[in-house]
Amino acid sequence: MLRVLSIVGTRPNFIKVGALHHAFSRHPQIESVLVHTGQHYDRAMSEVFFEQLRLPEPDRYLGIGSGSHATQTARIMTALEPVLQEEAPDVVVVVGDVNSTLAATLVAVKLHIPVAHIEAGLRSGDRTMPEEINRLATDAIADRLYVTEQSGLDHLQREGVPEDRVVFAGNVMIDSLERFRHEASATGTVAGFGLEHKPYVLMTMHRPATVDHEQPLGRLAETIEGITTHAPVVFPIHPRTRQRLQAFGLLDRLDALDTLHLTEPVGYLEFLDLMQNAAAVVTDSGGVQEETTALGVPCLTLRPNTERPVTVDIGTNVLLPLAPDQITKHMEEALAGQWKQGQVPPLWDGHAAERIAADLVTHYDD
Ligand code: UD1
Ligand code: UDP
Repeated sequence: MLRVLSIVGTRPNFIKVGALHHAFSRHPQIESVLVHTGQHYDRAMSEVFFEQLRLPEPDRYLGIGSGSHATQTARIMTALEPVLQEEAPDVVVVVGDVNSTLAATLVAVKLHIPVAHIEAGLRSGDRTMPEEINRLATDAIADRLYVTEQSGLDHLQREGVPEDRVVFAGNVMIDSLERFRHEASATGTVAGFGLEHKPYVLMTMHRPATVDHEQPLGRLAETIEGITTHAPVVFPIHPRTRQRLQAFGLLDRLDALDTLHLTEPVGYLEFLDLMQNAAAVVTDSGGVQEETTALGVPCLTLRPNTERPVTVDIGTNVLLPLAPDQITKHMEEALAGQWKQGQVPPLWDGHAAERIAADLVTHYDD
């Protein structure tokens, strides 16, 4: 038996590890152990995903919570070290690019436990993003690197990673999407907002570069005001964004807009239903860029770069600056049905986690 310990901490991690745990627990040679760092802890940011994705209660909950980068990373490391010693896994699986990913990788590697990184090789080229540092550092010391798109293979090759440590496995985020999209339709979420058969826009924003500073956040508010004159907008607000909107006095201004539906973060199934029926999505999320490409829904990403270029090159994603006029012009095109068609990238087929499970067993089970 191969004892595989997966680390989760944040909302996107639950969706990715949901697919992996599903595949691991169906594999006869894998024993799956789950550790939740507690980086995200609100019910709407954590528990609801365990329920909807049918993840079992984590075997260990570290309860780390929020803090500065150094504090959060250090707390996770200190709490995780004895847990890994006690659980003694054969391999630790980390996903994505959050602080929990890097902290767990550092601890495991120094205990001589091999680390498999899912979603390796992605690079935005922007070292002011905390996620870019997490990606670079994790890939530099992890043992086995599972890649979602060609750019990941190219970056790892350029960084000198030996080819035999890299596997092009596909995208586990899309495994969950394929598994749950019909269940999502049954939630009736779109109808609940009174938007059935109506063109509407779905929005998510949470990157520090946009939401932590008054000027870009003000431009975002202006952008939302502009879009609501063309179509209703549904905006489930990430806790970081809610805090900043409140701090800069922008929340009341948005609250006053009749055709803007401001909500708490919604569950995975509800979000999937909103996404698959949207006329367009406006975001700075990593996962949402991929999900909209898989669904063929127009995506306007308000960022100067992306670590997921395949969504722009062959998918439905477009990068735009935080310039309200330019965004409104693109939005008008999306609402008029004048958007590029897009293709689903290779191996985003709903079976990535099965391929990873099989490879882990072949590689690590003696
Ligand atoms: C983190 C990840 C980011 C990822 C995002 C997914 C890092 C560096 N960032 O960003 O890459 O895209 O998760 O959503 O790991 N908060 C709550 N309740 C919660 C969680 C957070 O109120 O359950 C608030 C806290 O005030 C906290 C702030 O949100 O300080 C930010 O949380 P944090 O986990 O540090 O970063 P995210 O912005 O969520
Ligand atoms: N999501 C959700 N509810 C929401 C907003 C997002 O379930 O209110 C899901 C969505 O499927 C998205 C995923 O959470 O792809 C990833 O979350 P997030 O955007 O927070 O993280 P990122 O992918 O940017 O790291």
